[in-house]
Amino acid sequence: MNQILKLVLVSTCMLSIFSCSNPKTSSKDIIAESIEFASQQIGSEIEIMNAKGELLNPRTIEKDGSTRYNTPEMWTSGFFPGSLWYLYELTGDNKWKTEAEKLTETLDTIQYLTWHHDVGFMVNCSYGNGYRLTENDAYKKVIIQTAKSLSTRFRPNIGAIQSWNSNKGWQAERGWQCPVIIDNMMNLELLFEASKLSGDESFKNIAVKHAETTLENHFRPDHSCYHVIDYDTITGQVRSKQTAQGYSDESAWARGQAWAIYGYTLCFRETHDPKFLTKAENIAAYLFSHPRMPEDLVPYWDFDCKDIPNTYRDASAAAVIASALYEMSTFCPQKAESYKTLADKIINSLASDAYRAKLGENNNFLLMHSVGSIPHNSEIDVPLNYTDYYFLEALVRKRDLEQ
Ligand code: GLY
Repeated sequence: MNQILKLVLVSTCMLSIFSCSNPKTSSKDIIAESIEFASQQIGSEIEIMNAKGELLNPRTIEKDGSTRYNTPEMWTSGFFPGSLWYLYELTGDNKWKTEAEKLTETLDTIQYLTWHHDVGFMVNCSYGNGYRLTENDAYKKVIIQTAKSLSTRFRPNIGAIQSWNSNKGWQAERGWQCPVIIDNMMNLELLFEASKLSGDESFKNIAVKHAETTLENHFRPDHSCYHVIDYDTITGQVRSKQTAQGYSDESAWARGQAWAIYGYTLCFRETHDPKFLTKAENIAAYLFSHPRMPEDLVPYWDFDCKDIPNTYRDASAAAVIASALYEMSTFCPQKAESYKTLADKIINSLASDAYRAKLGENNNFLLMHSVGSIPHNSEIDVPLNYTDYYFLEALVRKRDLEQ
């Protein structure tokens, strides 16, 4: 079966090579003009802030057309500061560093947040990129303290970090005890980083154990993943396999698959354990041999939505997958070209008029057509700050590969 998937992957790559060769736009043009576009759009957003005299952290567009801004405790609060860091990296212009520092430092209190698991996203995208690019010692302390806070959510008898609390709100209504979502794989990057910075191996050990437990319980035989696994807090056993943001419990929610491929790629980078890379490769085979993966490689919001093709695409899933594929291409010499070609094709799609906003429109977000959560009737077919963040990250990775 695996051989068949690999064959299909190879033929998909061949098709992609054929269909993405665009004589008008070279790879370097796409990078250069995307950087120029991003600088102008995000520059306009900074001008709005300066005019209001406020530091604002955009997340998406509300139904009434206004911009929805993050408060520091929202899971999406790290992405706009992170996008500013990537603009600094892509342009070398210190003005982006100044803006990135200001926005990053609005998240100072998150290092002590223990009531949800998303601090990895929030602090690694902001302070993590900031530390990577500046080696500011104060940022290092924030990253280590955040890892301590995240570690309080590790449940040793389960071998995983608890994602959401289950004592109130809609999570309590679902009757969960210890819900762990596939998204949580993304928070591991902060733990690996904190181990290297502090020398405290416990953070890395927690990350590896979480990745192994997720490997065991979150995946189906075809390598697609469930969104939520609920564990028994006493016995540590799986109670149920469900969804929160997907079409159904047994469906493949597109962003969940994206978090999974990205998460296992980063686990391989940090551990060199081949089982993690094998999982990332198997997820790639699942995605790119899927009969409902569209020709432009921007997935529908859920691969099993019964309304396909009359439903929404999710550009956020595409951006995360592209960024992961660029990194995977550096680990897989024999498939490097095919993974990079797939990633390039996604980036070409996202940079096209079909997904990229017109200059001065889209409330200054870069990309259109992402989906937050259809079951919660929230953020449907809108721009999302994490789509822009992973698009810029993918541009950095693409540029580094092509230099
Ligand atoms: N981590 C939440 C989401 O992917 O929507």
